[in-house]
This record gives sequence, C-alpha cells and structure tokens, in this order.
Amino acid sequence: MENMTVTNDNHLEISGVDSVELAETYGTPLYVYDISLVKKKIKAFKDAFKAYENKSQVAYASKAFSSLALYEILAQEDVSLDVVSGGELFLAIKADFPAERIHFHGNNKSWQELREAIDYNIGCIVVDNFVELSMLKELTENKKKQMDVLIRVTPGVAAHTHDYITTGQEDSKFGFDLSSDQAEQAIRELRDSPYLTVIGLHAHIGSQIFEVDGYQAVIAKLMAKAKEWENKYDFTLSVLNTGGGFGIRYTQEDAPLPLSTYANAIMAAVRDQSQKLEMDLPEIWIEPGRSIVGEAGTSLYTIGTEKSIPGIRKYISVDGGMADNIRPALYQAKYTGVLANKVNGEKTEEVSVAGKACESGDMLIWDLSITKPAQDDILAVFSTGAYGYSMASNYNRLPRPAVVFVEEGRHALAVKRETYTDFLNLEVSTQQFEG
Ligand code: LLP
Repeated sequence: MENMTVTNDNHLEISGVDSVELAETYGTPLYVYDISLVKKKIKAFKDAFKAYENKSQVAYASKAFSSLALYEILAQEDVSLDVVSGGELFLAIKADFPAERIHFHGNNKSWQELREAIDYNIGCIVVDNFVELSMLKELTENKKKQMDVLIRVTPGVAAHTHDYITTGQEDSKFGFDLSSDQAEQAIRELRDSPYLTVIGLHAHIGSQIFEVDGYQAVIAKLMAKAKEWENKYDFTLSVLNTGGGFGIRYTQEDAPLPLSTYANAIMAAVRDQSQKLEMDLPEIWIEPGRSIVGEAGTSLYTIGTEKSIPGIRKYISVDGGMADNIRPALYQAKYTGVLANKVNGEKTEEVSVAGKACESGDMLIWDLSITKPAQDDILAVFSTGAYGYSMASNYNRLPRPAVVFVEEGRHALAVKRETYTDFLNLEVSTQQFEG
C-alpha cells in the first residue's frame, strides 16, 4: 500500500509512524489517516487540470469523510468543498472553510438547510428538483440575496458499479430528468428569477468507476443539451461539473487508473465537444471523495477471540466491525489487511475476520491470508478512509472509534473516541418526564 513500510521490529509503518504505537497510544478500533497521501491525491488532480485552458475546480465530496481537522487542512490545500447536509455545512463553517468555495448538494434539502446556505453566502447550490427550485426562489426573494446554482441532471448514463452507488441512470431519485423536458423546464423557470443565476450543469454517474467512457458520454450529452439551450434561451454553460466516482484500490483485484487519466479524459472530451459544437470552453468542476481519502485511511483493530470449524474455516474476531465499517455488509465490499505487529511472519494462515456485532453478516474480510494471528495482535485493514467512519453507527452501543492523522513521522488526534458518557448526554431519564 502507498506510503507504508515495515519497521525493523516488523511493525506496519504509515507515513513514518509505527501503527502499533498508535494502537497503544490511542486504543482500538482506530481510524488512521495518512494526510500526506490525502495531499498527494489532491495535488494529482490539481496538477492534471493545470493543462486546461479555462478554469477548473476540485471540490472534495465531504460525505466520504468529514472532520473539523480535515476541513481545516482542505481549506489550506485550496480545494473546494461539496457538502450534502446542514451538518456537513455547519462543520465546514466551524473549521473556517471559505464559504464561497462550498457547493451544496442533496435531493431533499430542508428550508432550514437552504436558509443556512444562503445566510453563509456559500458559493453555489446544486438544484436537484422543482420543489427545491421554488423554495430557493422564495428564500432568495425574501432575503434579497443572490445565489449561483448548478442544475443537477440525471443524464441516463449508468456506470458499471454496484447498484446502490450508481446514480446517473434515468430511474434515479437524483436530479432533473434529461430525456423528458424537466431539465429544460428548470432552465426556463430559473431564467425568470432575479436572484438565482444558473452557472451550469452537474451530473454524477456513480462511484468506484474504473473507466473513463462514462464521463465522456455524459460530457457529450450535457454539452449538446447546453448548445441547444444556448440557441433557444441564450443559456451559457459557464461550469460543467462531472461529479466524482473515481475508483481506488481496495484489494489486488482492483486496478484503478491514475487520477490524471480521469482528468485528462474529462478535459479531452470537453475540448472535443466545444470544438465540435462551437461553444466556449466551460470551467470544469469535479467532486472526488473516495479517491482523495479512501486509500489514505487504515483501520486498526485488536484481535480477540477465535473459532475454528474443522475442515471449514477459522474465524478471528476484532473489536470493531460493521459499526465502524458497514461497507462489507452493505455492498459486499472487499478489503485486505495485515497483522500490524508482525507484518511478515514465518507461518501464515487463512482466516476470516469477524466484527463483534451480534449479527452473522458482520464480517469484515473473508479468507484473508496473514501471519498466524493470536489474541491481542493488531489487525490493520487497508483503504478504509472513504465511507467508513462517515457511515459508522452505534449499533450494539459500540462507541465510534477515534481518528488519528499521521504525516511524515508525526501524529495527532483528529476525532476523539466516543465514550459511554457521550451516550448518556443524549439520554433522558424517566425521572425527568413531566406529568
Ligand atoms: N458527487 C456526488 C453528487 C455524489 O453523489 C458523490 C457520491 C460524490 C460526488 C463522490 O463520489 P466518490 O468520488 O466518493 O465516488 N457509500 C457508498 C458511496 C456512495 C457515494 C454517493 N455519492 C460506498 O461506500 O461505496
């Protein structure tokens, strides 16, 4: 795995920090983020887009993983931010993330969330449907405040990925339909609004995508439509946002493309279409989440019990599981890992890694070949940085793990471990009921 080495003690080292020492210092389960890798991924996208003649924006999709400290780092790295809820927006603002670099997504934004977005003067709202459009009109008119919007369309392009995480196909809850006249009607309605300015179009075709053709197909479709509306309504496509979805390596079975390959393919398709259709080059915006933080995250667990079924398999159980990483249970996602305290052992064994939740489906990895494990060994699971902590729950009343950032030999706590007292803070005893 990138940026990982093995110490003389046979310990896994992440960006120059001994992972076993991290487990001792902060406890397990622990999420470890290699911030140097996060920065490297951002740089890869930004460097690739330097070759583009017009402006470009890389907006990190917060839903993959958000924390105050991460937002502070992202603010310094000069990226934009995609948020999908009032909660993500709140945290970003608390981290002093520049509001003008925030874009707001979501298929069911509430009055309160839209009000907050307008009051914070965020950069743009990605309008998803007609109800939201009329809410936005009302709010901006009442507040007499301008807002830039992108129109999210469902382009009718399905990416080859898991059903739950494809979003570009026509039968989807997201965005204005492009095959009927919904998106066009949205353009017409927005033309009349004195406070809303349509700056462009947005489409997101799915997640964990390993090909560039889906992006190119969507660019061709959106730019052709924009040209049609340019003639009909004097519409200008200033911004074309092609969403996120760039695939990463979870196991050896995954063969991700270099991030620059995606960026180059997107730029080439946009240039091609603009020449063909005789349109000005739009700004290109992308929204990567997984490809920025996915491979930078490693989960550390302590191994507890084991169970061997002769001739069938050996289970080892760790002190976390589906509560801190729902992806194997939800998407049959595959992961790999090593024993962090004895990476290269003389004896190896095939084991299946179970979580500690009371549910048979709580399995993190099936058939993992590692150094023969024992109780209290530390298991490191790779590439857990995206949609792991951010989808964590308190199922079985398991406290959420702590999050630690590492960078070139240094480490710091980024999110504290949840405690039983935190549970109690939300609880109301019957002794406080009235009547
Ligand atoms: N933009 C939009 C509008 C999105 O809906 C998403 C992801 C992204 C950007 C970022 O996509 P990424 O670059 O991270 O692939 N929980 C699932 C993934 C759900 C993705 C939802 N939308 C998983 O764990 O695989």
